Amino acid sequence: MKQQNLADSQTLHKIWEDAYNYAIEKTRSNIAFFSDGYPAPASTHNVYAKIANTDWTSSFYNGMLWLSYLHTKDDVFKAAAEHTLPDYQQRIKQRINTGTHDLGFLYILSAKAHYLITGSEEAKQTALDAADLLMERYSQASGIIQAWGDLDDPQQRGRIIIDCLMNLPLLFWATEVTGNAVYKDVALNHLSQSRKTLIRADNTTFHTYYFNTETGTPIRGVTAQGYSDDSCWARGQAWGIYGLALAYTYTHDTGCLKDAMRLADYFLAHLPDDLICYWDLIFTEGDEERDSSACAIAINGLLLLSSLLGVHDAKALEYRTKALAMLLELCRNYTSASIPHSNGILLHAVYGKPNGAGIDECTIWGDYFYMEALGTLLGTAIQFW
Ligand code: GLY
Repeated sequence: MKQQNLADSQTLHKIWEDAYNYAIEKTRSNIAFFSDGYPAPASTHNVYAKIANTDWTSSFYNGMLWLSYLHTKDDVFKAAAEHTLPDYQQRIKQRINTGTHDLGFLYILSAKAHYLITGSEEAKQTALDAADLLMERYSQASGIIQAWGDLDDPQQRGRIIIDCLMNLPLLFWATEVTGNAVYKDVALNHLSQSRKTLIRADNTTFHTYYFNTETGTPIRGVTAQGYSDDSCWARGQAWGIYGLALAYTYTHDTGCLKDAMRLADYFLAHLPDDLICYWDLIFTEGDEERDSSACAIAINGLLLLSSLLGVHDAKALEYRTKALAMLLELCRNYTSASIPHSNGILLHAVYGKPNGAGIDECTIWGDYFYMEALGTLLGTAIQFW
């Protein structure tokens, strides 16, 4: 994007408004179909199927409803989001696929957002119940929260993943609202272990890392969704940028800010000409698929970094300029406006290339983070994380 376009804030404002209205109207048009379910994590031929509240991704739809409500004040969005609370409560009670660190994603955008917007004590308690469940995944000896699977599963025991940086805000918040330091202590230990092991010296990241849960010794880094163990999975890097910037807002540890900047600089230096990353940053040109969802996450991380650094900081300006340029490209060339039958918003994401999942499809978190960025720029979104 040319600098003069960026300076024309009125033009940009109109672009963000039109893009947000499109996303909000798409969300509205999905309410009836998803009134008894949730969008699947990724679309099939750009259409989301309806699934029960069983995956790690249900709450991105809630987040989209809440963002839409905040922008329009139309109660139809609020009612649709509120309607799901019993479902999230039931999920905890019956332990439906709760063996995951993604309780953060799941309950921040559903119950916590619900509480922040409406003040509902029931929603607040639900989010705190989720924080308690997340605490069960903590290993004292290694100082980590296990990402996936049963705690005694030999394939998953002692494994952390970079995505978890986005789940830690649930624990930081739980300490804020209860006054009980135990949640924050666990989040701080996991954060410290993640920064030590998942971030490589060259500012790339491992997707996952194994620890010995008896001795606490870090063992090795491996990928799950990236190209190879030593490549840099684009969405993992994006989770890292945003997750570390968010960690700074809770810890005020400048090390988190510096690490977020290291990851951001690497991410920005490995984008193709149109600024929308490939699914792994090992690719900077060619026919591999893009992951627009990684870009949408990174944009939010860059906007937050920019605001944390302050208006007089040159890096702040660089991050904001790049974030706006990436978002403009998404608005212009990556939305489903060109495919009216799609019930998704952001095209050309990749869920998991190595396992053939959701390749060149919409992903529900891509849709959510695209909307979050627009809501932030238009000043109607609040910080859910
Ligand atoms: N958190 C899982 C993913 O980004 O695919």
